Amino acid sequence: MTPAHTGVTFDTMSDANTPQMPHGYDLVKRDRVTSTNESLRALADEGAPEGTMLVARSQSAGRGRYGRRWQSPEGNLYLSVLLRPDCAPMQALQLGFVAGVALGDAISARVPASVPVQHKWPNDILLDGKKLAGILLESGTTGGAKLDWLVIGMGVNVVSAPKDTAFPATALADHGCTLGPGDLIAPIAHALSHWIERWRKDGFAPVRAAWYARAYRRGQAVQVRFENGAKSGLFVGLDDDGAMLLQTAGGARERLSYGAVFPDIGAAG
Ligand code: BTN
Repeated sequence: MTPAHTGVTFDTMSDANTPQMPHGYDLVKRDRVTSTNESLRALADEGAPEGTMLVARSQSAGRGRYGRRWQSPEGNLYLSVLLRPDCAPMQALQLGFVAGVALGDAISARVPASVPVQHKWPNDILLDGKKLAGILLESGTTGGAKLDWLVIGMGVNVVSAPKDTAFPATALADHGCTLGPGDLIAPIAHALSHWIERWRKDGFAPVRAAWYARAYRRGQAVQVRFENGAKSGLFVGLDDDGAMLLQTAGGARERLSYGAVFPDIGAAG
């Protein structure tokens, strides 16, 4: 845990305490937006460079995975980062795990060591077993085989968490952390910069190893829920593209590309 918390809110993020961004990262601050992903995508269309990071004080139409809404009251962190990865869309899925590991590093350095930080497949961050943060990747191509832009959106429950979620949610404030949303911007940017470099240099293997070190229910029974059903099995690990490898009761190993993970309460372990 870092010794000093400044409790910097987005509101009070004056020039004096504007976060020190890593080389190549540029911070754009907004008040209320529909969605930071949407605002950043508009900047991408206007030619904004890789490393543009947009934060907003609140969102009126924050987006979650699968078209869900992301509740976005003031006090929490809403941040999106623009990348121009010279890669195919399938390979870019790995960047969700790159972002997850970076966010996990930034958070775990700022909460008491006694409170576990975990990665829940594919890109959620859990604090003490409850969802603290989510990541939403959105991308576009110019018609070729490679991506033109990739926006990584991160939402972190700093002061409050939604009450009505299928998987329980939590906020940093519930664990005695007095951080403000502004306190997390630079640490996230630095961790992201580090892990993107690592991914570009060494590929997915070190990212996957770091993700495994904090993985939620790897080697245990899980239920993966879809819109129209669910599958249960043992969560074996991640395939090379980040798909979940699930060993089902019949012994078959399945690859899952989407779904929401829950503990399988009907199974041992
Ligand atoms: C999820 O877990 O469903 C992903 C949630 C991602 C929320 C963040 S908040 C900042 C960025 N802007 C959005 O509209 N969504 C992401």
